[in-house]
Amino acid sequence: MEVLIRDNPDAGCILGAKIIARVVREKPDAVLGLATGRTPLRLYQELIRLHREEGLDFSKVTTFNLDEYVGLPPDHVQSYRYFMDENLFRHINIDRRRTHVPNGIAADLHEECRDYERRIADAGGIDIQLLGLGRNGHIGFNEPTGSLRSRTWIKILSEQTLRDNSEVFGSLEAMPKHAITMGIGTILDARRCLLLAFGPAKVRAVEHMVEGPLSAICPGSALQLHPRATVVLDENSAAGLRYADHYRWIDRHKLDWQRHQ
Ligand code: F6R
Repeated sequence: MEVLIRDNPDAGCILGAKIIARVVREKPDAVLGLATGRTPLRLYQELIRLHREEGLDFSKVTTFNLDEYVGLPPDHVQSYRYFMDENLFRHINIDRRRTHVPNGIAADLHEECRDYERRIADAGGIDIQLLGLGRNGHIGFNEPTGSLRSRTWIKILSEQTLRDNSEVFGSLEAMPKHAITMGIGTILDARRCLLLAFGPAKVRAVEHMVEGPLSAICPGSALQLHPRATVVLDENSAAGLRYADHYRWIDRHKLDWQRHQ
C-alpha cells in the first residue's frame, strides 16, 4: 500500500485529482470507478477545473460508481446518480451513456447486480477505482463482516452508516436501509485503487485499514491484498498510524517515475 500523507484534505484531493487526470491523459478511454460522499467532492471540483482550464478530456471515458441506495429513483436528490450528475458529470464533457450507477429501483435487483458486473467486464475492467472509507472501515457499502470476496450485491447498511449518512435525509427513519454496492472482490479487480480518508473521525478505520490485520471486520483492510493501492490521508486521519514517519520517508525518497507530481 502506498500511503501519502498531506497537510489537509484540500491538498489530498488535489493530489487525488492529479492521479486520476494522469490516468485519463495516458488512456483517453479509461474506465474510472467513482465514489460519492463528502470526501471526494473537492477532488471532483479539481477535475472540473482541469477540464475547464487545462482541457482534460472525458469524451471517451467510461465510469462505474460504487453504489446506490435501494429504492431511490435516479432523480431523487439523495440518490447517488443525482449526486454524480450534480457534482461531476454535468460539468465535464463526458457522454452520459458511458456513466454507470447501479439502478436502485430495478424490478429485479439481483439481476441488476449481475448485469453491473457484466457491464464492468464488457468495458474491459476498471483502470482506477476511487474510494472513500467509512468510519467503520467500509468501502463501497461493504459493511464489517461481509465477505472479502463479494461481488456486486445488495447489502444491509449498518447502524453506524445510517447515523453517519442520515443527516441529509432528515431522520434515520427516512433513510434507505439497503444499498447495491460493488463487492470487495469487484473493487479488488480494479487495476488500481485510490482511497481518500480525511479528518479525525477516520483515525481508527485508517489505522486498521493500513496497519491492522487483514480482516472482514475492517473491509478497507482488503486493500492490503491489492498490488497497486494508494491511500491519501491528511494529518488528522493519519494521526493513529504507528509507521507514519516511515510513509513520509518513502514519499520523500521516491524516484522520479514513482512520483505523482
Ligand atoms: C460512497 C461510498 C462510501 C463512502 C464512505 C465515506 O460511494 O461508497 O463508502 O466513501 O461512506 O463517506 P464520506 O466521504 O461521506 O465520509
